[in-house]
Amino acid sequence: AIDISRLRNETGYITLDTGYKNTGSTKSAITFLDGENGILRYRGYPIEQLAEQSTFLEVAYLLIYDKLPTQKELDQFISKITQHTLIHEDMMKFYEGYPSKAHPMGVLASMISALSTFYPESHKSELHPDEVELTIIRLLAKVSTIAAWSYKKSKGFPLMYPQNRLSYTENFLHMMFAQPTEEFKVNPVVANALDTLLILHADHEQNCSASTVRMAGSSHASLYAAISAGVCALWGPLHGGANQQVIEMLQRIQAEGGNVEKMVEKAKDKDSDFRLMGFGHRVYKNFDPRARIIKDVCDKVLNELGIDDPLLDIAKSLEEVALNDSYFVERKLYPNVDFYSGILYRAMNIPTEMFTVMFALGRLPGWIAQWKEMRDNKEPISRPRQIYVGANERDYVPISDR
Ligand code: ACO
Repeated sequence: AIDISRLRNETGYITLDTGYKNTGSTKSAITFLDGENGILRYRGYPIEQLAEQSTFLEVAYLLIYDKLPTQKELDQFISKITQHTLIHEDMMKFYEGYPSKAHPMGVLASMISALSTFYPESHKSELHPDEVELTIIRLLAKVSTIAAWSYKKSKGFPLMYPQNRLSYTENFLHMMFAQPTEEFKVNPVVANALDTLLILHADHEQNCSASTVRMAGSSHASLYAAISAGVCALWGPLHGGANQQVIEMLQRIQAEGGNVEKMVEKAKDKDSDFRLMGFGHRVYKNFDPRARIIKDVCDKVLNELGIDDPLLDIAKSLEEVALNDSYFVERKLYPNVDFYSGILYRAMNIPTEMFTVMFALGRLPGWIAQWKEMRDNKEPISRPRQIYVGANERDYVPISDR
């Protein structure tokens, strides 16, 4: 039992809400999410329309600047990003220091943090709008390069410089897959599917990583530092790391003979400590609208690329079994965005350990928009309270008497 006197603070009683299940941390005008009805909108625009008709960089503009750009504004935005895709040559040397087995998320987080050391003006507490603008452009441009190179590094392949004639997604695929010795042509089906995936991941209101970005940024740490903190928060298997775990789970089911019922039973067993990865969501108590879109894109892209991936069939039957099981029905556990995204990444030849990096690439504009809104609204430093449940006052015991 908690001593009631410990719930009091100087202004009244403290609210205890571990995991912030029902605590609003901010007022935000970026993303609307109705978890009961499975609705997601960026700046008022339904995710289904954006996924179908927009492009990733247009969505990035929308999230960050709160308006759909005119053609001229979009062209200028893209052109600025294209001009900043190179990273400082000295940063290339950092890649030599990571062990070959380094997880690309670790590389991504530390390289983004390292960017701040090359742009020390980003540390100032009072930022000029032009400096903020430049930092935003630099991040959007350079994170793509850093992400692709983290993969090249893990393979021991030579790093490929960005190509300014290519679109954002084409350029990313080029840096990931081109080799200096061969001609590389980007498959438009793959580039379009990647663009859609990035749109679907672009923001999701006050999730763990966005809240981390806001919290780190609330101390007026630089935007680079705040984004690096967000990458670290995304890395965990309960958040962005789930997409990697989904594929590993599906592969395990395949290796064990395709018995999806067994996996569902295991996920229900509270002693097993195992969860059905890609299922359930803190806010969605209905279908995650992004999962619906990705499932359709998955079918279409695999068809167009002529790929027959048995993991897609396993995923579909797993979904069917789980959605007809009272455990999942009662708890309103539905497939989330991560459930089908890994299958698409596989179709694009993106290796499993890069999945969460892909998520980070998509989430970047959302993190930036969240950080910008927090700073523009002059929010105070985030500093939650606690209910102290430790020892009462006691006297220090010298080590010789213990
Ligand atoms: N498999 C089995 N049981 C589950 C699952 C799951 N995937 N998810 C939730 N449950 C159960 C819990 O055991 C709990 O059961 P109980 O009421 O009998 O104790 C109940 O459903 C509620 O779960 P909580 O953990 O309280 O829900 P919370 O909102 O804290 O967690 C989370 C949400 C972390 C997403 C959870 O559903 C989960 O771990 N899912 C698997 C990991 C995953 O896919 N993460 C990606 C989320 S989407 C994203 O970050 C982009």
